[in-house]
Amino acid sequence: MLKDQDRIFTNIYGMYDRSLKGAQARGHWDGTKDIIVKGRDWIINEMKQSGLRGRGGAGFPTGLKWSFMPKESDGRPAYLVVNADESEPGTCKDREIMRHDPHTLIEGCLIASFAMNAHACYIYIRGEYIREREALQAAIDEAYDAGLIGKNACGSGWDFDLYLHHGAGAYICGEETALLESLEGRKGMPRMKPPFPAGAGLYGCPTTVNNVESIAVVPTILRRGGAWFAGFGRPNNAGTKLFAISGHVNNPCVVEEAMSISFEELIEKHCGGIRGGWDNLLAVIPGGSSVPCVRGEKMRDAIMDFDYLRNDLGSGLGTAAVIVMDKSTDIVKAIWRLSAFYKHESCGQCTPCREGTGWMMRVMDRLVKGEAEPEEIDMLWDVTKQVEGHTICALGDAAAWPIQGLIRNFRDVIEDRIRAQRTGRTSAVAAE
Ligand code: NAI
Ligand code: SF4
Repeated sequence: MLKDQDRIFTNIYGMYDRSLKGAQARGHWDGTKDIIVKGRDWIINEMKQSGLRGRGGAGFPTGLKWSFMPKESDGRPAYLVVNADESEPGTCKDREIMRHDPHTLIEGCLIASFAMNAHACYIYIRGEYIREREALQAAIDEAYDAGLIGKNACGSGWDFDLYLHHGAGAYICGEETALLESLEGRKGMPRMKPPFPAGAGLYGCPTTVNNVESIAVVPTILRRGGAWFAGFGRPNNAGTKLFAISGHVNNPCVVEEAMSISFEELIEKHCGGIRGGWDNLLAVIPGGSSVPCVRGEKMRDAIMDFDYLRNDLGSGLGTAAVIVMDKSTDIVKAIWRLSAFYKHESCGQCTPCREGTGWMMRVMDRLVKGEAEPEEIDMLWDVTKQVEGHTICALGDAAAWPIQGLIRNFRDVIEDRIRAQRTGRTSAVAAE
């Protein structure tokens, strides 16, 4: 279990003062100028050494992403954009950072922007996060008043401005290029990649888009050293991590733990166990709604990191939003609900996603009601394969994977339901 002295988010439970004074008392904004003075190359190298992989869900190496930004200005301004449009079902970890520990994010924005030659940073915050927006704006104002950001930030000689931009409720605006479109004042529709944002991002300028947690851990990593952070977790899965555990556990919570902790330890130590005990565990979605569910019995010994969940269980760590379902859950209906969500949130720009999400949802609807024919299970599987990998952005994959997880892990449940319904139908006809 992670020791208290190794926690980065010292106030995610909101027990202490989140104001600048409180944040400074907990070690934030300590020696920020000294970090900046060490220079861009030092910062990026430390970030690479830390092994930090993006905390928004995709797990792309953060230091490597920063190194894609041009070293020297080519006349275009550079930007850092922080993705705070946290909307993945089950995911509420960034909310806790912004609500209770906003200064660690603001300090991270300054240091990361400096490292990428950006004098301006935009935080794009989910529209529904109203209290978080207020907390963050108050902290930004405090940081400006104290000279920590703004002209000559922290006395470092670097001018830096930070803007908070509110989203308006569309899930797709969390996709990084749709987010950039939205920031520019257009409809949030994903762009084709490449070019990646480092080449042509906000207003066509070099831009890095990072998740809130990825940026908020930066100051502590640089104070304690990349090697310190890399010391947690298995190789290629380094660091501490926020896990948001919801569903049928005794105490749902958001907690910071060492990467690669076992699922059992995570649940027993922090959530007071599974509701009704381990034998009552049906399924787990370990990384937010975009990753396939896993049968409960395979999860108990699971290692909670990117590589194990993908390679050994065919799922993923994603946003580390762990959704626990006990045996009272109608798993077909639960996945149907996700299908309805993705259909609703599709921007409609590309055909496999626009048509496929509706198609998949309608078949799921028939499966829930037990009205489908047995051969529709394979047909549904084929449709998910036609959508997966054939769309402009990852929403198409996100809509396909939960259904694939359902068919792979719970085919027996679907078949039983169809069989029961058919038997019911046949007996009804016989009775007539
Ligand atoms: P991605 O794998 O396409 O990209 C990840 C990051 O790496 C992006 O910033 C991208 O620009 C960069 N990148 C990837 N390949 C690159 C290359 N060759 N050169 C330069 N940069 C490169 O994944 P994407 O679409 O950004 O994110 C999908 C993930 O987002 C899903 O796995 C899901 O878990 C997560 N997600 C999170 C949500 C949340 O609320 N936090 C909401 C919805 C999805
Ligand atoms: Fe829009 Fe879906 Fe295509 Fe993404 S995959 S661009 S959400 S239609």
